[in-house]
Amino acid sequence: MDFNLSEEHEAVQLAARDFAQNELLPGVIERDNAQTFDPSLRQRMGELGFLGMMVPPEYGGGGMDTLAYVIAMEEISKVDASASVMMSVNNSLVCWGLEAFGNESQKQKYLTRLASGEILGAFCLSEPEAGSDATSQQTLAEDKGDYYLLNGTKNWITNGATASVCLVIAQTYPEKRHKGINCLIVEKGMPGFSVGKKEDKMGIRASDTHSLMFSDVQVPKENRIGPDGFGFSFAMSTLNGGRIGIAAQALGIAAGAYELALQYAQERKAFGKAIFDHQAIQFKLADMATRLEAARLLVYKAARLKDQGKDYVQAAAMAKLYASDIAMWVTTEAVQIHGGYGYVKEYHVERLMRDAKITQIYEGTSEIQKLVIARGLTK
Ligand code: CAA
Repeated sequence: MDFNLSEEHEAVQLAARDFAQNELLPGVIERDNAQTFDPSLRQRMGELGFLGMMVPPEYGGGGMDTLAYVIAMEEISKVDASASVMMSVNNSLVCWGLEAFGNESQKQKYLTRLASGEILGAFCLSEPEAGSDATSQQTLAEDKGDYYLLNGTKNWITNGATASVCLVIAQTYPEKRHKGINCLIVEKGMPGFSVGKKEDKMGIRASDTHSLMFSDVQVPKENRIGPDGFGFSFAMSTLNGGRIGIAAQALGIAAGAYELALQYAQERKAFGKAIFDHQAIQFKLADMATRLEAARLLVYKAARLKDQGKDYVQAAAMAKLYASDIAMWVTTEAVQIHGGYGYVKEYHVERLMRDAKITQIYEGTSEIQKLVIARGLTK
């Protein structure tokens, strides 16, 4: 076991930190207020290789491992969790799903452009009546011979308005339940595909979250990923890796808040000395640093297992469960350490606290992670 990062991983960390501090930090409060993400920043993320990090170079990606990806996710999430959720969905749900399960022509047609950041992807599983209970898909993909007729609504879709390519999970044979589900590659612009309302969210406000509607959309059969009825397995397998990305996001949000709190505690004076010199504050920071380190080890372990081709389902769920819980706790303590300043936008920690909450909800709630962990205990 080697706890040191390789030179390559350190270089990725530095590059992601530089980008986050120099290009994402200016304007992050304004983007949160305006609920918009600057397209030129998205383009920069593509140019720098952050949108297809794990995809092999022959398909336009960076050819890096999962550890490199989580290291970059942490650095970017320290500053801007709206940027990092876009990055996470494109990398671990869309690109990875296509790379692992798409056929050669799907990879040539879609993956290369997605991995290079030329276009963005979305992963469409959640529905108004199917969130945690993901097998209850109401969106229908009727088999019409050489195409599927797609009808239904998807909710809370990250990259919903900006994505050019959507991986849509839909039911083809309701009587077969989850074994009758397919995943279809749906292009923005296909007749009958429309973007619904933008969500006005508590956190990750600059990220693009929309509902999507499909009304008699004709999706060619060649756009189905994997064999007939493979869609639910596809979604579950993809989400296992996605959960490592969101765990890294939660870790980054927590680490960002901790770093700000540590700095503030050394600068702010009360009762004649820096507040860091008061034991009440020292103990908070000691607990924050310890939980952060534990979360980082869980995230790195899940990433390592994935890179080694080992079973990482339970490790990914544990990493997400723990990192998202400590993200909520660390960010709340960071606001507390900042006192009144923590409650105003200028000091960033209130945004990180709002951003932290979603990591306990999306890509499987904390309760779903516990279910996945518990099921693995008796295997
Ligand atoms: N990995 C691989 N396969 C899995 C799996 C996993 N983690 N979990 C379940 N499966 C497989 C099972 O093996 C089973 O397959 P077989 O019948 O072939 O054996 C099949 O899926 C159904 O599983 P269950 O019988 O256990 O079904 P269930 O209904 O009892 O539980 C669930 C399923 C685990 C709760 C699942 O519905 C789930 O994970 N729900 C959460 C959904 C989720 O994470 N949504 C996130 C939305 S995407 C998002 O948030 C993206 C974003 O924008 C940021």
